[in-house]
Amino acid sequence: MSNSTVPDPHGSEAVAASIERRWALLAVILMASTIVVVVFTGLHWSMMPPSRVETIRPETLNVSGEFVESNLGSEVKPDGSVTVRIVAQQYSFTPQCLLVPAGVPITFRATSADVVHGFLITRTNINTMVEPGYISTFRSTFASPGDHLMPCHEYCGTGHQGMWAHVKVIDRSAFMQMAANSRRLSCAK
Ligand code: CUA
Repeated sequence: MSNSTVPDPHGSEAVAASIERRWALLAVILMASTIVVVVFTGLHWSMMPPSRVETIRPETLNVSGEFVESNLGSEVKPDGSVTVRIVAQQYSFTPQCLLVPAGVPITFRATSADVVHGFLITRTNINTMVEPGYISTFRSTFASPGDHLMPCHEYCGTGHQGMWAHVKVIDRSAFMQMAANSRRLSCAK
């Protein structure tokens, strides 16, 4: 039985069609506004590291600039504070062992040579992401000497679970003595 053989005194087919068109329009508006929001937040907010926005070219890290290998590790600043520079790559950190003094403000500056990695020092509040193209910074002071582990905590590929570094916090005077004889310090073998 087709509709044409049934009398339709109330014009219900036309009513249904207009309601259907209205819902279809609503669905299109919903989808379009979702896409607008996604595109806007993607372009406007982008992917930013949690600390601050300082950019760097990951392709030339080991060629020139702040993160060349000879500049990695701990550096004593003229004001007595310490800056530690670290590069993360699949599947290791450079240096593999960070040497830092206790009781001194330390600024960590880290970046990635390839994909997103995590930077976390156990038993401290140091925890940030390390993203290619950005420099992640973190400031902290270690209260006392000791050993900490520094695992990568962002899944970065098949070798992720083997990506570790060590942090050795030593006495301030011992550290400063070593720093007097060396431009950059680390405890990497
Ligand atoms: Cu690097 Cu996980």
